[in-house]
Amino acid sequence: MNEVNLSRRLKRVFDYIPEGTKLADIGSDHAYLPCYAVLNKRCTSAIVGEITEGPFNSARSTIRQSGLEGIVEARMGDGLEVLVPNEVDVITIAGMGGSLISSILENGKEKLEGVETLVLQPNIGAHQIRYWLEKEGYSLIEEDIVEEDGKIYEILVASKSNQTSPYSEQKEKELFIGPFLLKKQNDAFKKKWAHEMKNFERILTQLESAKQTEESIQKMKEIQQKIEWIKEVLS
Ligand SMILES: C[S@@+](CC[C@H](N)C(=O)[O-])C[C@H]1O[C@@H](n2cnc3c(N)ncnc32)[C@H](O)[C@@H]1O
Repeated sequence: MNEVNLSRRLKRVFDYIPEGTKLADIGSDHAYLPCYAVLNKRCTSAIVGEITEGPFNSARSTIRQSGLEGIVEARMGDGLEVLVPNEVDVITIAGMGGSLISSILENGKEKLEGVETLVLQPNIGAHQIRYWLEKEGYSLIEEDIVEEDGKIYEILVASKSNQTSPYSEQKEKELFIGPFLLKKQNDAFKKKWAHEMKNFERILTQLESAKQTEESIQKMKEIQQKIEWIKEVLS
């Protein structure tokens, strides 16, 4: 094959991988992204992490068909446990929920030594990753948002050494929506937040018509705050 095609979403993740790096792609499935990154000389080598046997075998097959055995290595295991500290410079984790991506990073914290860049592509729950990055001293340096087949995906890029904070005095709102995305506001962004607002309004209506508890009142306040933020953004 010696050639791998990437979806629009994965191509955008690829765009944020720095030149000349050693990559680990965790939860790689077919290993398209790491094989593409090595074939296109963005990365000098790559490790593919997969927890599930079927995708692990698909990854091995892509590596073999691309002629990349010995340069791209598939390892079976949970999250970052497949890595040794200081083995890679950049980690990509794409196509999962923000809470799973955050827990993979949290559970494998000791393996992040030497990792300068994280390129993370949550399908939902990007704010959970922004909170984790803040807590762990990774600085969010770029964000992107892309539409593919009617679905909208966010990409978060974080650096260990760049310690510039992207947040202003409106930090809670920026953690929720994304400090860089708030400034860009492209069509995909507007579409995403118009859709999210409808969801939050629907949940709020349901909560309002159900029996009120301390917990549901708190939840309603949080949702009202989010709706306010979204309205500010879309206005
Ligand atoms: C939806 S696929 C995304 C594949 C690819 N990264 C992409 O963006 O197209 C998620 C993959 O992550 C794997 N996965 C889920 N949890 C994992 C974990 N804790 N460690 C390693 N792989 C995991 C699944 O087996 C699955 O192949």
